[in-house]
Amino acid sequence: MTQVDIQAEVTSPRHVAIIMDGNGRWAQRRGQPRLFGHRAGAKRVREIVRACPDLGVKYLTIFAFSTENWKRSETEVTGLMSLFRRYITKEARALVEEGVRVRFIGDRGRLDKKLIKLMNELEEMTAHNDHVNLTIALNYGGRDELARASQRMAQDIASGALQPDAVDEETITSYLDTSILPDPDLVIRTSGEMRVSNFLLWQSAYAEYDFIDTLWPDFSSEVFADVIARFSGRDRRFGTVKPAAE
Ligand code: FPP
Repeated sequence: MTQVDIQAEVTSPRHVAIIMDGNGRWAQRRGQPRLFGHRAGAKRVREIVRACPDLGVKYLTIFAFSTENWKRSETEVTGLMSLFRRYITKEARALVEEGVRVRFIGDRGRLDKKLIKLMNELEEMTAHNDHVNLTIALNYGGRDELARASQRMAQDIASGALQPDAVDEETITSYLDTSILPDPDLVIRTSGEMRVSNFLLWQSAYAEYDFIDTLWPDFSSEVFADVIARFSGRDRRFGTVKPAAE
């Protein structure tokens, strides 16, 4: 069965990726510090993960912290890191019980040891789950991911484990952080910005995009359901043309 045939049968996106944008503006509009918005955003993550099974979404990938986000103020970066630690600690039990498998993508090298330990533990604790696959991109950048993958590929070529002429699209995919995930069918960005911001560059080659004005802390499961319904009405061609009507 080709990817086109699969899509014709299933209208829900199997893999949804989200650029969660607008936390800062949401907080500013309420006269609050930016971290107030990030905390409200974390609550939405919980709601959106829970909404996935009913919407037919098996894989959810969320952009929590980019390789560029280190340029923000020290207060914001430290606050976000502490929010991630708290999220993992507080949510672990519910995620295990609700059958959510959690994975992290991105470069762990620059993250603090305590956070890395919590991330590893959560991945292990949820390793046998299969109800929903939640992937959290943390210190992630699409170009950085491709550079790290290229380094490992070059090492394997140098050691003779990989032949240069065997490198094809599948090989590159297999060296990425997302190697075992299907490509996203739908990428959503909240807050009205129309940018891809270095998110899943290779993986989103054939994804549909939905840019929505709602700020992330206001992105409820109802808004999510509307976006999914819009996706279901789209005509995905994957570079082919529709067969002519008889
Ligand atoms: C972008 O909004 C959002 C981020 C950089 C952080 C995303 C993080 C969360 C939603 C927090 C919780 C995540 C997890 C996994 C617990 P922005 O700050 O750039 O908003 P702005 O464009 O309005 O300033």
